[in-house]
Amino acid sequence: MCEFEITGGRPLAGRLAVQGAKNSVLPILAAAVLAPGESVIHNCPDLTDVAATLDILRLLGCTVAREGDTVQVDASRVRCGCVPEKLMGGMRSSVVFLGALLSRCGGAELSYPGGCELGPRPIDLHLMALRTLGVKVSEEGGQVVCRGDGMRGEQICLSIPSVGATENAMLAACGCPGVTTIVGAAREPEIEDLQSFLRAMGARIEGAGSPVIRIEGGAPLHPAEHTVIGDRIAAATYLCAAGAAGGCVTLTGVDPGHLTAVLSVLREAGADIQTTPGSVSILCAAPLYGVRPVRTAPHPGFPTDAQAPLMAALCCGTGATMFVENMFLSRYRHVGELTRMGADIQVDGRVAVVTGRPLHAARVRGSDLRGAAALVVAALAARGVSRLSGVNHILRGYQDLDGNLRALGAQIYPV
Ligand code: EPZ
Repeated sequence: MCEFEITGGRPLAGRLAVQGAKNSVLPILAAAVLAPGESVIHNCPDLTDVAATLDILRLLGCTVAREGDTVQVDASRVRCGCVPEKLMGGMRSSVVFLGALLSRCGGAELSYPGGCELGPRPIDLHLMALRTLGVKVSEEGGQVVCRGDGMRGEQICLSIPSVGATENAMLAACGCPGVTTIVGAAREPEIEDLQSFLRAMGARIEGAGSPVIRIEGGAPLHPAEHTVIGDRIAAATYLCAAGAAGGCVTLTGVDPGHLTAVLSVLREAGADIQTTPGSVSILCAAPLYGVRPVRTAPHPGFPTDAQAPLMAALCCGTGATMFVENMFLSRYRHVGELTRMGADIQVDGRVAVVTGRPLHAARVRGSDLRGAAALVVAALAARGVSRLSGVNHILRGYQDLDGNLRALGAQIYPV
């Protein structure tokens, strides 16, 4: 599949079960390394980032099997070694293997992680956290080499509530004798889901979802069975698609409590949103209108990953909205492509001002995961037939996006 052909103007209607959360399952799969034996992970989405993580697990000596959305990982014979660049380069989340391998093996070596080009993606907080636990970290020729002999529980203070650094610290602390406290921890639902899995493995860990997480490390862990939470960002994307194209869509398998900031903005923009404990329904009978400034922030603030899909939906609405992207330096790469569709977006540094207007079809290219999804959202509302290249970015984080949208009535086909 190299491109999508999208014919805009069709409202969406129907019911869709949301995939398991990419940003939850990736650290959970890494955490399976912590204990010998077979862990079973349910609601595991079929994504290229998941496939890459399973390849890393196999390279480390794990036996991996998949039956539908259930993945079995047997980490009995983990070979503690180096994760090569070819497996690390494409994906940011692979950096959490540092913490997992330090816990299991007392050492870890991997090349600097890759991932979406959203601006600088430093790992200084990850390495600070590990050094605080007594890990000897050296950076040699693009490789990060960690030696964990003598690791001890400590207090880790994160200056930014980094999701990945919080996850790395949690995983490393599980293998650290003593008490570790992570202060300034990220509060994302994916952090809570990782804690749930670690507790199922026998870890003594509490506080996820709050800024302070406490781990009593060193206890032997055992494999566990876990069901991954629904993907709140995929859900936000489908909601924005309905906001752009109009219609009535119900999403199941997602906790609306994980989406409060997004639902609040969509309601302000005129969407009728109804929720139950496991579902979100959206009814959009008219184009969305402009809202108060949308400022991305760590959870429970407005998620940076939903910024591009929401921008796309508001581009084809009415009225003006100011976005402030506070999390990443270069997360407006979809703006140029949206303007090719006639969008009116003025960018100045971290600020983007969108003025809604009808869009027209165009040939556009996605250059990162959420930006590419945003172009799909816009094309669903644009007049005419659009062509989207860069679909490989979408396959990293969305399971069967085109198939799901077709099931909701969209005219989107791989070509
Ligand atoms: C996670 O990335 C997500 N990825 C991202 O989703 C998400 O956008 C991000 O969290 C913020 O919510 C995964 O979970 C796999 P951070 P992560 O560390 O952990 C700075 C998607 O589209 N920082 O919370 O890499 C960093 O530069 C992806 O699914 C440091 O300065 O994000 C950024 O400005 C994109 N030093 C801010 O913190 C560090 O050591 C937040 O980054 C680490 C981070």
